[in-house]
Amino acid sequence: MEIRSTTKEDLDVFVDTVHAAFGQFPETPIADGGRWWSALEMDRGLLAVAPDGKPVGTAAAHSFELTLPGRIPVPAAGVTAVGVLPSHRRRGVLSAMMRHQLTGIRARGEFLSVLLASEATIYGRFGYGPATSTARLTVQRHKAALAAPRVLTTADAPAAGSDRGSVEVLRRAECGEILEAVYDRYRRAQPGALSRPHRWWSLGAGQPPISPAPRYVAVHRDADGVADGYASYSLGSVGEQSTLTVDETIAVDDAAFTALARYALGHDLVSQVVFRHVPPEHPLRWQLTDFRAGEVGGHTDWLWVRLLDVPRALTARGWFTDGEIVLDVDDPFLGERGRHLLTIRDGKADCVPTDRQPDLSLDVRDLGSVYLGGTRPSTLVRAGHIRAHHPGAAALADALFGTDRAPHCLHWF
Ligand SMILES: CC(C)(COP(=O)(O)OP(=O)(O)OC[C@H]1O[C@@H](n2cnc3c(N)ncnc32)[C@H](O)[C@@H]1OP(=O)(O)O)[C@@H](O)C(=O)NCCC(=O)NCCS
Repeated sequence: MEIRSTTKEDLDVFVDTVHAAFGQFPETPIADGGRWWSALEMDRGLLAVAPDGKPVGTAAAHSFELTLPGRIPVPAAGVTAVGVLPSHRRRGVLSAMMRHQLTGIRARGEFLSVLLASEATIYGRFGYGPATSTARLTVQRHKAALAAPRVLTTADAPAAGSDRGSVEVLRRAECGEILEAVYDRYRRAQPGALSRPHRWWSLGAGQPPISPAPRYVAVHRDADGVADGYASYSLGSVGEQSTLTVDETIAVDDAAFTALARYALGHDLVSQVVFRHVPPEHPLRWQLTDFRAGEVGGHTDWLWVRLLDVPRALTARGWFTDGEIVLDVDDPFLGERGRHLLTIRDGKADCVPTDRQPDLSLDVRDLGSVYLGGTRPSTLVRAGHIRAHHPGAAALADALFGTDRAPHCLHWF
């Protein structure tokens, strides 16, 4: 079995092979991605080729930026288009491609990779852990009143419900680069969010690339007229209910999000509003005067994270509590092990090798799960994944890894 890099000339065979692995026909758009393959970077693709010369497996990667806690964007490989022909499965083809790919990602200087998993059973063995989750929030419109904020608003910190801006519905042709600019501001402030390079926006002709079909777009502008949020949505029926479904609500701050939510919840001819791709614990639910008017459903994993350079990854993110912790990290897939002393002062971490006794022993996949702050280390201690070496170790790790804002990602790739 040979694993080789692809070039532009391989695009057709690459796309054919991925479609065959997923059981789709090339003219059928995969899931909600439309012509997703036109966003592929063919110099980052891999083909697994059988001894008879037949391509039997594929993998690719996008060059994204991932925002870390502390609003720090770093380069991240977005692994995608992973598939092996049904006739060649369970013979180690994926394992060989993963090894090849992780080595290549490291060689480019990227210290982490991310992916969306078709099945949660596939990627743990390769060092990936689920790091963000997503859900949908369904709100019955007749119960959808939003409470006034209970805290005072200041110019520096507007409370979520206070809005001095405006909302406007844009026609498709008017979206232009407005949404792209808003998304870029949003993703730089949201831990767990990925950049959407310009070619992704061309896929949707200026509309959010995640949308399967043209959407109405409501744009929010601040008091100075600068666009700072948008909601892309459609109207239709879900069961008996006339439903407004918001595919993505992108806002650079909570005030803009609330203004867009108020717009959607105030829409006529609608009995319920479904906000898709929101963090499971979203402030919007707490803003409803009737807490039970909002129902969280479809809670599932979204972004999986794989760290390729533990000291670099730990020193790259922002931290919110001073302290010290010793982590014994095992990376069985790459055959690596390291004991790291992490010292956090004033929001920054120093990470050096140590022979001190560890506070926690963990697999690199579990470090990926806690890295963005979306999973508490104590949860994985209780699950029997992470070993705590003394009674206070889990609480110490929870305090140190905790962040100011839950990570969230809604980019589909
Ligand atoms: C998932 C897929 C790529 C696996 O490829 P493969 O070449 O069969 O994988 P490997 O032979 O390298 O398997 C490595 C190990 O993972 C396990 N594994 C592979 N796919 C698995 C799955 N879907 N569920 C559970 N375990 C799986 C294998 O049993 C094997 O375990 P072992 O080392 O204990 O024997 C292939 O089944 C496929 O193309 N599926 C459909 C498309 C898809 O879902 N792609 C992933 C997109 S995110």
